[in-house]
Amino acid sequence: MPIPISRLSVRPQGRRASSGWALLAVIAAAGFVLALAAGRASAAPEEDGYRLWLRYVPVDSEWLARYRASATELIGTDASPTLRAAQAELLRGLTGLLGPPPRVTADVTQDGAIVLGTPTSSPLVKSLSLGLQRVGAEGYAIRTVTVQGHSATVIAANTDIGVLYGTFAFLRLLQTREPVAHLDIISSPRIQRRVLDHWDNLNGSVERGYAGDSIWKWETLPEHLSPRYTDYARACASIGINGTVLNNVNATPYILTPLYLQKVAALAGVLRPYGIKVYLSVPFSAPVTLGKLQTADPADPRVQAWWTAKVAEVYRDIPDFGGFLVKANSEGQPGPRDYGRTQAQGANVLARALAPHGGIVMWRAFVYTTGVHSEDRARQAYDTFKPLDGKFADNVLVQVKNGPIDFQPREPFHPLFGALPHTHLMLELQVTKEYLGQRTSIVYLGPLFTEALRADTWAKGAGSTVARVIDGSLYGEHLTAIAGVANIGSDRAWCGSIFNQANWYAFGRLAWDPDLSARQIAAEWVRMTFTNNDSFVAPVVKLMMASREAAVDYMTPLGLASQMAAGTHLGPGPWVAPSGNMPPDWSSTYYSRADADGIGVDRTATGSNAVAQYSPHVASEYESLASCPENLLLWFHHLSWDYRLRSGDTVWDSLVRHYDRGVAAVKQARNTWSTLSPYVDSQRYRMTADFLAIQEKDAEWWRNASIAYFQSISHRPLPARAAPPPDTLAHYEAFCIPYVEGSPGRSPGCAPADVAVPR
Ligand code: GCU
Repeated sequence: MPIPISRLSVRPQGRRASSGWALLAVIAAAGFVLALAAGRASAAPEEDGYRLWLRYVPVDSEWLARYRASATELIGTDASPTLRAAQAELLRGLTGLLGPPPRVTADVTQDGAIVLGTPTSSPLVKSLSLGLQRVGAEGYAIRTVTVQGHSATVIAANTDIGVLYGTFAFLRLLQTREPVAHLDIISSPRIQRRVLDHWDNLNGSVERGYAGDSIWKWETLPEHLSPRYTDYARACASIGINGTVLNNVNATPYILTPLYLQKVAALAGVLRPYGIKVYLSVPFSAPVTLGKLQTADPADPRVQAWWTAKVAEVYRDIPDFGGFLVKANSEGQPGPRDYGRTQAQGANVLARALAPHGGIVMWRAFVYTTGVHSEDRARQAYDTFKPLDGKFADNVLVQVKNGPIDFQPREPFHPLFGALPHTHLMLELQVTKEYLGQRTSIVYLGPLFTEALRADTWAKGAGSTVARVIDGSLYGEHLTAIAGVANIGSDRAWCGSIFNQANWYAFGRLAWDPDLSARQIAAEWVRMTFTNNDSFVAPVVKLMMASREAAVDYMTPLGLASQMAAGTHLGPGPWVAPSGNMPPDWSSTYYSRADADGIGVDRTATGSNAVAQYSPHVASEYESLASCPENLLLWFHHLSWDYRLRSGDTVWDSLVRHYDRGVAAVKQARNTWSTLSPYVDSQRYRMTADFLAIQEKDAEWWRNASIAYFQSISHRPLPARAAPPPDTLAHYEAFCIPYVEGSPGRSPGCAPADVAVPR
């Protein structure tokens, strides 16, 4: 039943009124506006980061009159839960930003009206020619038009969800101080399925999660629907995310039991009005572990029947269920290889069960055999999947990580992109910063994401970018998707730190439009999350844009990869060598190949020849030392410590200089932030300042430990002005942190006597 507009809450539903919200409500009700020049911190109420980029704080006087003139009355419709959500969001946003809410009316009666709707839900929208034929199923138009002699802003779409997306886009204009008096905006997503992958376990922990526990409180579902679920849905919808995989790729069959399906259905009910479909990670062995069959062989008719019945059960509870995500024959997970079947045969048995219901399979390409000594791990996914091109069912997407190893600070693009013209490929990015400083470090991933999306595969000549592979335009695909491994948890600030929120934001914005620039996204986010004051925006955007390269510099410069501490992936561990049961490709030395002669992995024709997996143009670029980008040099080449780079520095000197440059960049970021307290509430200022102090220590630890280790192998003197590490290699090697958030159990081999303070 439609809720009368007067009863639509403009406060975050059921949330304990934070001091910020309570204050805003009082301000709005009293009808006066604080000219909070977004910058005067003495007036900035304390914030804990809960409201993300949807803070809707009062607009300063310079813009207030203009914006109010464009938001005098609201002609909406509450014909569906989604349209109700759109209208509630608009009222919430306008009230927060502009003070008293606009009048809600049935007709346009004055200039400055805002009209919301679809041609089906609103006769007024139907009567206007808005170009909706160009926006597709999820896009929107925002146009300034004249209605009954009055100027009005129409936020319209073909579908209710398009209206919600348009509403958030309109609010973003106000939040970022864009003019709104003459709008002519058309926008639609380039990629159909824009999905967050939660690596959340049913026991409440999150694999590689650095923001507390899982946000899904399984024990209180389905009865209790935390208001946080709605706020999660709002945040996702505000950036166009339309799917969520609720549970870890290292999946348990319990998720498919009737008990948990009820809980999943309850969550799906909360997310549905916000256009978010629910997907689940499932273990390939579920027919055995849950179905009590003797086998999970995809060729076995009983297995096929089991999946068909299970999927039907899922759809009975969740009619718009999205589908399954599967990690098979990877890192100990069961898979079709256990039965001598291919990855395609495995994916297709699930796909056939899902197809009648419109569901899809996201089948991960992160497949490798641990313990295969001779093979280059970077080659394995390609070698496994390339022969299977064209063999996957039409509702299967092969989900490929951006690089061939594993979410490293920098990797070349994955050679599968462009190489499977007859298979739907989707891109998997990691939003959580497993290898990039986890909870505390400021590492804005916009530049990493755009580097991956813009990488040119040359599969069909110049311009065959990864973005064009996954948006379907390169090979004329009809099923397209992108996934981001979520960084969201129970933490009050959602993502473990304020700046980690920017990575969630950037993922969503790029999933909608892979052509957006990382800088523009950063600027939007800063304006909405903090303030529009340019004295704050400019330095913070600069700091963010430099942050990823800084991390590459102090962790793994020049194309190095996987030099992190074993297991936890926090802090340096370049000395980690294969031992005991550890497979070689889980060690750091496997990836540095540092020896007395030099460093780096020969992946050219004289080595593993992984370069040959790229199209000829790219392969020859990487193969030749003259053209290989310097930031990927040691990924593709084993070079003498004395080899001279284009800069004139030797490899050794350059390595040391990069570590130093990374540390310097973090110090610089810390300095920059220390000047910005006048623009931010003290809670968010302090948290960020403290985390930057931790990052500076981490960067120095990385630099010192890496130099101590590699110098013990290179036996080269440090270049001029580079300070020697303050401690011995033995000290760095012995140091360990026993427990690290997001890593199961205790850190491998970390004895109490080893736990010291790093320098
Ligand atoms: C990395 C990560 C694991 C994760 C895996 C995956 O290896 O460390 O925790 O399970 O990626 O993507 O499946």
